[in-house]
Amino acid sequence: MVGQIFRFGAASTAASENRETDLSLADGTDAVILVGGKGTRLRPLTLSAPKPMLPTAGLPFLQHLLSRIKAAGIKHVVLGTSFKAEVFEEYFGDGSGLGLEIDYVMEDEPLGTGGGIRNVLPKLRGDTVLVFNGDVLGGTDPLAVLRTHREKNADVTMHLVRVGDPRAFGCVPTDEEGRVTAFLEKTQDPPTDQINAGCYVFSREMVEQIPADRPVSVEREVFPKLLTDGAKVYGHVDAAYWRDMGTPEDFVRGSADLVRGIAPSPALNGQSGEFLVHEGAGVAPGALLMGGTVVGRGAEIGAGARVDGAVVFDGAKVDAGAVVERSIIGFGVHVGPRALVRDAVIGDGAQIGARCELVGGARVWPGVIIPDGGLRFSTDV
Ligand code: GTP
Repeated sequence: MVGQIFRFGAASTAASENRETDLSLADGTDAVILVGGKGTRLRPLTLSAPKPMLPTAGLPFLQHLLSRIKAAGIKHVVLGTSFKAEVFEEYFGDGSGLGLEIDYVMEDEPLGTGGGIRNVLPKLRGDTVLVFNGDVLGGTDPLAVLRTHREKNADVTMHLVRVGDPRAFGCVPTDEEGRVTAFLEKTQDPPTDQINAGCYVFSREMVEQIPADRPVSVEREVFPKLLTDGAKVYGHVDAAYWRDMGTPEDFVRGSADLVRGIAPSPALNGQSGEFLVHEGAGVAPGALLMGGTVVGRGAEIGAGARVDGAVVFDGAKVDAGAVVERSIIGFGVHVGPRALVRDAVIGDGAQIGARCELVGGARVWPGVIIPDGGLRFSTDV
């Protein structure tokens, strides 16, 4: 079921975007989204839900990307699934609720990012394929990437984004024509600030050339081979909003950026604010919500609690006087009175006792019970 029932607090105007107006660029284009990864860096949350389905600014993360694809005028979307494959179809069905036509192709064994693209070939309808990693929050109009692809008459066009510190990403230099000259996975000495943004345009023939029925990495195998073979690989370079949502730090930040309108999402219809509270959630008087916090359905925030830049999933309870900062509070979690949760991930159903302190990257596994005062970084009683 696709729904949208929440209210924003202290509303402001969401970021606007420069959008490509030539929707005919989308003709003959299928969108493919890779959603088959295990999301290990977001465990324990991804033990029960695949990463692209985690609630982000009130919606499954993937819905923000699907709304961007829809806004670009692309109708047909193929999801390449593997880990927890059934969850996607249960939620999005045939896509008609979003005005899309969604097909699903499941890999029994994960085929990797390149194998996942090759595997959806039988479902493709057009001659151009726009591929997305299913865990990137981006502000780039897909049509702008398609335009570059058409103008350059490229075999493959990669979206490249300029970032402050490119060392943790695939670094992709281009020549003065915009043609990709190298593909360097995570290097300490990057020659450019342009990184692989996880969005590519492939011509159908290029997809056909990816080896079938075995795991293939698009980053480590497909791109290096395309360059060796002399294929026409171009970059579409910009400095738009971009975030890989793969880690807890990035996930909370990305969610907060969506709520505050720093990251644009057509799924939010231009709404934004300092926090977002779902209908049916309870926020006691004197509780302070800020920093792009999201409070899920049926969740409760007690009097005097302070929740800053956090994602509180459905049914969770944060008791009076507790402080939650930049953390993810899983489904049905109970955070006791005056507890401190900072830069932490609390798995579904865990119970954090009164006055506990969980900070600096702590991850509590689902269902774990920490008694009152049972975990602290100070000696006060
Ligand atoms: P980590 O385990 O935390 O690294 O996350 P991940 O498994 O999602 O891997 P990564 O972030 O590198 O994946 C990038 C994108 O590709 C994500 O949207 C994944 O869902 C997707 N992906 C990764 N591996 C596969 C695969 O084998 N098959 C398919 N269909 N998608 C994949």
